[in-house]
Amino acid sequence: MKTAVIYYSLEGNTEFIAKKIAEKTQGDMIKLVPDKDYPTGKISKFFWGGKSVMFGEKPKLKNTPIDIESYDRIFIGTPIWAGKFTPPINTFLNTCKIRGKDIILFACHGGGGADKCFNKMKDILKDNNIIGTYDFVDPFFHNVEDWDAKVEKIIVSK
Ligand SMILES: Cc1cc2nc3c(=O)[nH]c(=O)nc-3n(C[C@H](O)[C@H](O)[C@H](O)COP(=O)(O)O)c2cc1C
Repeated sequence: MKTAVIYYSLEGNTEFIAKKIAEKTQGDMIKLVPDKDYPTGKISKFFWGGKSVMFGEKPKLKNTPIDIESYDRIFIGTPIWAGKFTPPINTFLNTCKIRGKDIILFACHGGGGADKCFNKMKDILKDNNIIGTYDFVDPFFHNVEDWDAKVEKIIVSK
């Protein structure tokens, strides 16, 4: 089974989990990179990121199109911004036709909003088999849980 781990990460949390999944599945890690990435300043990230997600932007990505057809199982990971998936994931989901794949969704956030985000992603990916959804509270910033054990659970989900 060929696996892809497709994700966006501004500050490393989603990437932290994506790396663990890719290592454990021997999957290809594909980071979505916007032409112009968002700032990481304490206030500017909320201003620019928040504005972009609220306006439903689909920023141009450096690494699309992605050859989705060559994968059987796809993990899709996003930080949660204002209760939603991030704009680079918005671009990916709306430009890449994904059908008939096994999909696992994962998200990182500071405290909440994952269900709403996953439901929206599931709507867009309705022609696929959604195997599971998993969320993590800032795993890179706070090392408070056994993240490896949680990632193991994702890997074995059917
Ligand atoms: C613009 C912006 C909006 C955010 N909105 C939320 C939110 O609605 N709920 C939440 O729990 N965390 C929110 N966060 C926090 C991030 O989701 C969280 O820190 C996540 O782990 C960051 O992932 P990353 O390090 O992969 O970028 C927001 C962060 C940013 C930059």
